[in-house]
Amino acid sequence: MNRITDSDIQAAKLRLGIVGSSPLLLEAVGRALQVAPIDLSVLVIGESGTGKEFFPKIIHQAGSRKHARYIAVNCGAIPEGTIDSELFGHEKGSFTGAIASRKGYFEEADGGTIFLDEVAELPLTTQARLLRVLETGEFLKVGSSQVQRTNIRVVAATNVDMSQAVAEGRFRQDLYYRLSTVQINVPPLRDRGGDIIMLARKFASDFAERYSTPEIELTDDARSAIRGYRWPGNVRQLKNVVEQISLFHAGDRVDAAALAPYLPSPNYTPALVGGADAGAGGSDAGGRQSYAREREVLFNMIFQLRNEVDALRAELDGGRLAGGLTVSARPSSASGVGHGPSLALSLPEEVAVTEVTDRSVGHVTRSLEDTERETIRESLERNGGRRKATAAELHISERTLYRKIKEYGLE
Ligand SMILES: Nc1ncnc2c1ncn2[C@@H]1O[C@H](COP(=O)(O)OP(=O)(O)O)[C@@H](O)[C@H]1O
Ligand SMILES: [Mg+2]
Repeated sequence: MNRITDSDIQAAKLRLGIVGSSPLLLEAVGRALQVAPIDLSVLVIGESGTGKEFFPKIIHQAGSRKHARYIAVNCGAIPEGTIDSELFGHEKGSFTGAIASRKGYFEEADGGTIFLDEVAELPLTTQARLLRVLETGEFLKVGSSQVQRTNIRVVAATNVDMSQAVAEGRFRQDLYYRLSTVQINVPPLRDRGGDIIMLARKFASDFAERYSTPEIELTDDARSAIRGYRWPGNVRQLKNVVEQISLFHAGDRVDAAALAPYLPSPNYTPALVGGADAGAGGSDAGGRQSYAREREVLFNMIFQLRNEVDALRAELDGGRLAGGLTVSARPSSASGVGHGPSLALSLPEEVAVTEVTDRSVGHVTRSLEDTERETIRESLERNGGRRKATAAELHISERTLYRKIKEYGLE
């Protein structure tokens, strides 16, 4: 096998924006580079959110197929009834609704690479088709008896224990062996030491830029809380937490106490932090309600963020906008969520839509202020007037809460 140098690894990381230098991560990247030129199937194994999707890309880009197509398929997201047709295509009339024949990914990506994410979710019938194409390069479209050929490299990924899936009869053993000629293990975030802080800082700076907000700063105890946390959702979870803090605590020095509501522990109960929890959200009767509240809070935060950005701008403009600090008095910014188009994109669509309805902007502003005052008043009441708890529930800083209480005369 070819020798991989440190600078090869650095270059691959840079190309894909992979952050981290823990030995386990570097080993995984090095391994991907090493197998890239050899046309074998590769199985990427790692918990959810560890960054498995980088690895098929490394392999594709560093191999001889880099100029051909790369197609990523999430096997878990495609309904069982259509997956054969998605992957291998179908003939016209082969099932109800097949009004025309269609090429599948194995035909489309001929000469290139297919990434089969969540491969353990493939139904057994599809597994049989996949095994055949891996062994012989041959496949049949659904509803066809004409053998077709394709030349595909398959990289698969999974976060489940494949040997257990085999033992339980959910995955074909022969296919498992075939796919896992080479295995790459992507380490969980908790095993990556200093990478955790490095990633947190990168995400904080990314989100500050995206939302045009000042970057958050983590205190020492916040940093050790982040390092000590288990991160069951790995890098995806860390990114999500940093995004929320970047929004709701923009520019703050965030300490461990402020961070705590965003780091659910195993025995965590959503009720403790109100509806604005950072978790996956419940699907029970209370779930709807808490979602509505969460939206309300979010809505208020956007509004507040905009006011702050406007105020900042006015300051920068040396008072040229004096008297025009708020959205309502600035018709030029009435075109939607104005200052942060990317902010609007990453929030639930309804939030953005609500705000661009063609009612007069002044009217929207008024009702937003009312909503905000009410939200804060109710939260204060729920928390017996305790500001720390209220701020935590609303996911705003205590400083902001204090200002709002004064502004709305809620003392
Ligand atoms: N080392 C890393 N550096 C930068 N971003 C990362 C890293 N690892 C994961 N991510 C980001 O975390 C998120 C989850 O990664 P993903 O590859 O989708 O995880 P998986 O497929 O293992 O569930 C993505 O947004 C990805 O860009
Ligand atoms: Mg994934």
